[in-house]
Amino acid sequence: MAKKLFVKTYGCQMNVYDSARMADALAPHGYVVTDRPEQADLVLLNTCHIREKAAEKVYSELGRLQQLRRRRRDAGGDLLIGVAGCVAQAEGAALVERAPYVDIVVGPQSYHRLPELLQRRARSQGAQLDIDFPLESKFDRLPEERASAPAVSAFLTVQEGCDKFCTFCVVPYTRGAEASRPVAAILAEARRLVAAGAREITLLGQNVNAYRGPGPDGRAWDLARLIRALAGIEALWRIRYTTSHPRDLDDALIAAHGEVEKLMPFLHLPVQSGSDAILEAMNRRHDVDDYRRRVDRLRRARPDIALSSDFIVGFPGESEADFAATLALVEEIGFAQAFSFKYSPRPGTPAAGMRRQIRGEVKDERLQRLQLLLARQNRAFQEATVGRNVAVLLERAGRHPGQLVGRTPHLQAVHVTAPGAAIGELIEVRVTACHAHSLAATPLATMPAPTLEQQPRNPAVCA
Ligand code: SAH
Ligand code: SF4
Ligand code: F3S
Repeated sequence: MAKKLFVKTYGCQMNVYDSARMADALAPHGYVVTDRPEQADLVLLNTCHIREKAAEKVYSELGRLQQLRRRRRDAGGDLLIGVAGCVAQAEGAALVERAPYVDIVVGPQSYHRLPELLQRRARSQGAQLDIDFPLESKFDRLPEERASAPAVSAFLTVQEGCDKFCTFCVVPYTRGAEASRPVAAILAEARRLVAAGAREITLLGQNVNAYRGPGPDGRAWDLARLIRALAGIEALWRIRYTTSHPRDLDDALIAAHGEVEKLMPFLHLPVQSGSDAILEAMNRRHDVDDYRRRVDRLRRARPDIALSSDFIVGFPGESEADFAATLALVEEIGFAQAFSFKYSPRPGTPAAGMRRQIRGEVKDERLQRLQLLLARQNRAFQEATVGRNVAVLLERAGRHPGQLVGRTPHLQAVHVTAPGAAIGELIEVRVTACHAHSLAATPLATMPAPTLEQQPRNPAVCA
């Protein structure tokens, strides 16, 4: 009988991608995915270590799973518990000490070894750990992704790891050194995704625009070249990528934004702070002016591009003047959307040991002020779309009968009731109203599938 697997995903989009790939790795061993943990034979938590809160959530979830297993065993059954992802990698044996009942701990670079870990667990007592950074790439060993659950908008990891070592960040330690997948493997995976129904692909990497993968010509290709090659896949209509580092936003990529119409006019380009002194202490390797100049060039190449960013407030040593510089930069650039966080000291990172840590109340207050400003800009961006016609790629059913949910080129969620339209279609809509996180719209027409010459370009410029 098939065994049931429940995967709970925390953290970034790469974890979402990885969770699917873990399910792929276990499928040949008889595991079928369920969305109900109470029915599962194996629960995998795919965890995130980026901030303390994210990591702590894992332990409360583990406590609940331990209870579930107890009830299961009382009833004569059993449950296997595994921890994957960045907490697994960062904490390893310490995790087993704190939660000795876990069966498997597996780091992000070892997912292809999951079946072997389960076999080892079946043979012996105690938690089985694999937090190596193996020489072999998991991508060469994982089975092909299953086409059974096609998503209209799919993720595809092209690059993993980070060599930047921002002083606040755990990612270089949890994901390891930067590594890029070969172009041919990415194109093949993209074609399979499109054949299974994907019409939009988001290329993923912790530092995706540092992509340098071996090309079929034996040369290292950059992200711009990869995007141009992907744009040649006819039934792929939209391309996005995330997350980018400002320093790696080079001329070739900026040119691609101007020329490749399938590349959507939305870019997540985290700046973290508007103060040069703080950027330096963060080891971001760019200053405010660098960021400003790259954004200017990008906007010249693609005037309708919308930007999003991440911000950290209360980094050690951040003065009121530093914080005011962040607010000023936000005012100057204008973001369609953004994520902002209180600095969270992470074990083993340089910033955790820095003097002049900022008090919690100060962080709270700064975060509130920043979020107020970002929310105002988001609202203005949303409102500027009302009354315009936009192209929406329909991704899923909405909550109300007949309602479909899709996204604009600027990544805004749109709710539309469009009789006759189907998931996977690109339709033109008139935006009628906006809410904080979505737009409401009425359909105008189903657009013909875009060809290479005639790509969807959003007429709505929400600057
Ligand atoms: N690779 C991405 C970042 C991934 S982490 C990049 O370079 O942009 C996502 C965001 O979490 C970061 O951009 C940063 O804003 C935030 N973050 C990372 N470490 C943090 C910490 N220690 N405290 C608070 N926020 C943090
Ligand atoms: Fe972390 Fe910096 Fe690398 Fe982004 S660039 S993953 S913030 S170390
Ligand atoms: Fe979190 Fe790891 Fe992603 S720390 S943000 S899951 S790379």
